[in-house]
Amino acid sequence: MLAENKVDALISDPPYVLGASGAGMGAGRKYLQDIKNHIDTGFDVNLLDNFDNWLVFCAKSQIVDIINQAKNQDLNWMLLTWNKKNPTPLTCGTYLPDTEYMVHAYRRHIWESKTRFVVGNVEKNPFDHPTVKPLYVMYKAIASASAPGDLVLDPFMGTGSTGVAALQRGRHFIGIEREPKYFDIACQRIEHALAQGQLF
Ligand SMILES: C[S@@+](CC[C@H](N)C(=O)[O-])C[C@H]1O[C@@H](n2cnc3c(N)ncnc32)[C@H](O)[C@@H]1O
Repeated sequence: MLAENKVDALISDPPYVLGASGAGMGAGRKYLQDIKNHIDTGFDVNLLDNFDNWLVFCAKSQIVDIINQAKNQDLNWMLLTWNKKNPTPLTCGTYLPDTEYMVHAYRRHIWESKTRFVVGNVEKNPFDHPTVKPLYVMYKAIASASAPGDLVLDPFMGTGSTGVAALQRGRHFIGIEREPKYFDIACQRIEHALAQGQLF
């Protein structure tokens, strides 16, 4: 039971605005269709008005809006990155898709991790969802924006990666997901994490 029911940190990987259409051989791929149908819709940043400590993943095209949201709320902010060692190779003459962004907006200064980046591989996973975040990335997000014992909210939890990482790092968790099939996966993963207890 928590002393009070206040959310300490909103930590989320919300729907991006990617324009996920694909091209060439990739155009018909199922994961691109899944992204387009369920995830490539963006989100209303005004949702963040209700929180004074939030960390959200975002596409390059959303960074300005999200940083302006932090400024409008008079919060401190920092841009963090996930740098991928094995990005999808591209044949066209542009930058590799090897970096994802997180904006952390905050008033208080209680967190466990101070570096602005996390580096690692994109991982295969067994879940039927096109944008599952690796747990090592979510551990970084949890350590950057919350403290042990905090209540973490993810309003776009997908398969529940934030929740699993939060519980394994000694946080409490509330998650919301619109798609029943992803919600069911998240519940199974979170029940398993609860049964395992805190890992570190
Ligand atoms: C980028 S994915 C999150 C993936 C998650 N980080 C994971 O590792 O599985 C965003 C999720 O938000 C969900 N979503 C989109 N709009 C929503 C809404 N209005 N309310 C709740 N969930 C929503 C999508 O179904 C999708 O699963």
